[in-house]
Amino acid sequence: MTTQAGSHKWHAALLAAAVIAVPAWAQTTNNAPQEARATAAAPSARPWMTAKSDPSERATLLLKEMTLAEKLHLVFGYFPSKAEWQRSPIKNWESHPGSLPDSAGFVPGIERLGIPAQWQTDAGIGVASPRTPTPRLRTALPSGIATAATWNPALAETGGAMIGREAFLSGFNVLLAGGMNLVREPRNGRNFEYSGEDPLLSGVITGRQIKGVQSQHVISTMKHFAFNGQETNRFIMDHRIGEQAARQSDLLAFEIAHEVGQPGAVMCAYNRVNGAYACESDWLLNQVLKRDWGFKGYVMTDWGAGHSTTQAAQAGLDQESGWAFDRSPYFGDALREAVNNGHVSPARVDDMARRILWAMFANGLFDHPVAGDRAETIDYAAHAAVARADAEEAIVLLKNDRQLLPLAKSVRNVLIVGAHADVGVLSGGGSSQVYGRGAPPDGLVVADEYGKGFPGPKVYHPSSPLKALQARTTARVTYLDGKDVKAAAAAARGADVVIVFAEQWTAESLDVPDLSLPDQQDALIDAVARANANTVVVLQTGGPVLMPWLPKVGATLQAWYSGTSGGDAIARVLTGEVNPSGRLPVTFPASVQQLPRPVVEGDAALDRDAHPLSNYDIEGAAVGYKWFDKTGAKPLFPFGYGLSYSEFAMKGLSVAPAGQGLTARFTVTNRGSRAGKTVAHIYVAGAGWEAPRRLGGFTKVSLAPGESTTAEVTIDPRLLATFDTATRTWRIAGGDYRVMLASSAALTLETATVHLDARTVEPRKH
Ligand code: BGC
Repeated sequence: MTTQAGSHKWHAALLAAAVIAVPAWAQTTNNAPQEARATAAAPSARPWMTAKSDPSERATLLLKEMTLAEKLHLVFGYFPSKAEWQRSPIKNWESHPGSLPDSAGFVPGIERLGIPAQWQTDAGIGVASPRTPTPRLRTALPSGIATAATWNPALAETGGAMIGREAFLSGFNVLLAGGMNLVREPRNGRNFEYSGEDPLLSGVITGRQIKGVQSQHVISTMKHFAFNGQETNRFIMDHRIGEQAARQSDLLAFEIAHEVGQPGAVMCAYNRVNGAYACESDWLLNQVLKRDWGFKGYVMTDWGAGHSTTQAAQAGLDQESGWAFDRSPYFGDALREAVNNGHVSPARVDDMARRILWAMFANGLFDHPVAGDRAETIDYAAHAAVARADAEEAIVLLKNDRQLLPLAKSVRNVLIVGAHADVGVLSGGGSSQVYGRGAPPDGLVVADEYGKGFPGPKVYHPSSPLKALQARTTARVTYLDGKDVKAAAAAARGADVVIVFAEQWTAESLDVPDLSLPDQQDALIDAVARANANTVVVLQTGGPVLMPWLPKVGATLQAWYSGTSGGDAIARVLTGEVNPSGRLPVTFPASVQQLPRPVVEGDAALDRDAHPLSNYDIEGAAVGYKWFDKTGAKPLFPFGYGLSYSEFAMKGLSVAPAGQGLTARFTVTNRGSRAGKTVAHIYVAGAGWEAPRRLGGFTKVSLAPGESTTAEVTIDPRLLATFDTATRTWRIAGGDYRVMLASSAALTLETATVHLDARTVEPRKH
């Protein structure tokens, strides 16, 4: 028996070896008896092209016509950017005809069946370019965390539609957007690409962004699935977390984004989770994503996150992206071999191809094919306005003593210091890098300060806060670069107001070592604030930073990375043309000692074969403000915090059952003399949860001076429940629950108590 089975395997291996000499997609069907024979279909004989039918039916009809080779063709991606200016030399790099130059990825189409190619580009804030001598120049939204700071889902969707449109008109039909990983590690170099620390806020904001992108006949990803919480050892780190904590934190964020955005694709992460690579995790991909959430699209690897053929295929991976980043072309000929050997069933390959086709049909890739690069037809003026609206609502006013802001009409002399604010605003680095419109051909308005290689260059968008302010005030506005601290302090003495632009560049692949502003900027701010109490600090950071100078300055604005209209947005907030309405989507700690991990875990010196562990069960689902609540630590600024030039009152909370959850109603009044927007938060508290309370819902309200409105917030039943891992259901325990109307995680205004009977939350219909 043993010999027979062995010889059968040996025979199959020989057969497969003969097959792999020719690329998979060039094979005839003769070697694979299980395949349907291809029929040369005239366009009229393509029933799947009936746009009115359901995407699943269309995918099934088309799949029937496909050979195994053609199915395999769909699951294997190339990296088309030129090798010489890539991250580090890529061993297996090859150019690919039909791809778009300097793009993130490419999967060739199948002409015989009219299947379009997949032209992939990064990322979440616009059409990115890798580092090249002549990158694409496009509109950049503010960073993902900035959009989360708007607490305005409609803006997130409009922004998504804008970048989706630019992707489409640039010749792309897959946008590697939808970045989200809860901020467990405030030093994570990619927090700027994500949407904060709370599952509801993050899920809704990213979900709406994905929805916007996909309204433009472009598939959006949702990434990086999951627990890709830091960059140190990102390729190898094994994040350990119990299932209940996982479901109630990062996975809940993804679950909500999936429901809201219906992404065509999910990008599995580099890291390991509970022992398995995320792209080989049966639990994450097959069980959670596909079975429990009913995800109909496909799972693609992050670039270099593929590690196997059979194991990954069985775990639920559907497509290998940019294969040159992997050690081997796992979903190339090796997958065909695995099918021929019986290690991967033809049904699994059908499932992969069907999922990809479903996403392509559902998002209009067949019915509205991209027509190459038509970037000259982009309405950049309209897009700049979208980016500006997002940037404006993202700005968080953290401090405003003596009403230093908005700048008074009587101010005659303003000094701006630092961060190249004379020419532009900073952006975050790495694969998501968009080079801004209006920049010189190399995309750089400031000579790169990072150095060669990935994740550089350090890019400033050509949107000068200095010029934008000069255009809006009769005051004299001058600029100093701030490199000479003494000179800056001396100049500050003669100014009515000093505005220090402080920056922290964060980028993919690098965590920041601590939460301090780099390059002695704390000393600069301190010296300037000592010289002039009318000092305003504008922070351009990827996430939270410490502010040892805070008591000395008059005002502080968190502007994040504000995108290609950032200079205007900041100036409009400084002058009061725009009333700030951003709220922190992440807690700003007072010190790293308050964090679950005072030091970033891992060791950058480890090689790709190491297997470091990180224990996410320290905080479990108590991420961010929940951790602070639970430990009683007082942050520098709490989650949800933000001031306004106006004053708002919220009261009259009443709570009633609604569907499976609750509805909270209350009144919001603008008691100030300026029109403005505020955010009402509803927190909920129940027994046996990961932390004293959770954000249950929120709404952003816009009010004229003196105006009042009744606001309504619905609370998702999952936020009143805990996840029962045995039955895989959300269960609400019987008892009294507190529902709190609040203006941040630290300021509760009113509390109501409701009794809920014990029950299981009915799962959503897929
Ligand atoms: C990043 C992804 C990105 C991909 C393609 C990877 O390094 O982690 O977010 O989409 O590259 O550029």
